[in-house]
Amino acid sequence: MTLRVIAIDGPAASGKSSTAGLVARQLGWAHLDSGALYRALTLAAIDNLAEDVRRKGKEWPATQLIDLAERLPVRLVLIGDKFKPEVAGADVEEAIRGERVTRHVSVLAAIPEVRTWVNTQQRRAVEGRRGQEGFGGVVVDGRDIGTVVFPDAPLKIFLTATAHERARRRLFQRGQEVDLELVKQESEALAARDAADSSRRIAPLKAAQDAVMLDTTALTLEEQVTHVVELARQRFSR
Ligand code: DC
Repeated sequence: MTLRVIAIDGPAASGKSSTAGLVARQLGWAHLDSGALYRALTLAAIDNLAEDVRRKGKEWPATQLIDLAERLPVRLVLIGDKFKPEVAGADVEEAIRGERVTRHVSVLAAIPEVRTWVNTQQRRAVEGRRGQEGFGGVVVDGRDIGTVVFPDAPLKIFLTATAHERARRRLFQRGQEVDLELVKQESEALAARDAADSSRRIAPLKAAQDAVMLDTTALTLEEQVTHVVELARQRFSR
């Protein structure tokens, strides 16, 4: 049976999650934001292991991180049409968006054991959904969905936009004033995260060879969603 997955990858603040969520809704599919799982694991690590790591001046211990994620547990739970991140049974959707988590998440996401664990959770989530009534499919967004997690996804999209435009959107989303100096600062921060995500040895941010490249710099969110939905209707009509 065809894998009913749409993979949406791209750099930070390229609109992946908003696009994936809206595409999923229009198709009647579920949405899985893989970054949310990296963030939930990071939140759990900060709350439970950071003190020890700081005191001993050590790196994040891979085995303890995975034990912690299993024990608490850190997981994705399908609520309505969205997989929500939970830590020890609590919805952490808001807590994971804070500055504290954002500052540490790239480092944790570069640990091979963490990536293997997150990938397994994602594949299980999709498998579990496959058995459900009315299953349409899952739109998954991240950095390595089309290259590593679901390399057989029939539709892969790689979203791009200039760092300047991504910074502008991010500030607007946060309700902050969009002045030139702030845009410059934010665009430098985004470029630094892109560089960290693109240059890591394991599963770096890059487009799959068969991905559809979509530059959204001059598109509205509605336009990019419509474009992906049209591609999906063509690709999954068979
Ligand atoms: O998309 P985001 O900002 O929520 O992602 C958080 C971090 O997780 C970011 O540093 C990149 C990393 N990530 C990843 O390495 N692979 C994914 N599939 C998704 C996110």
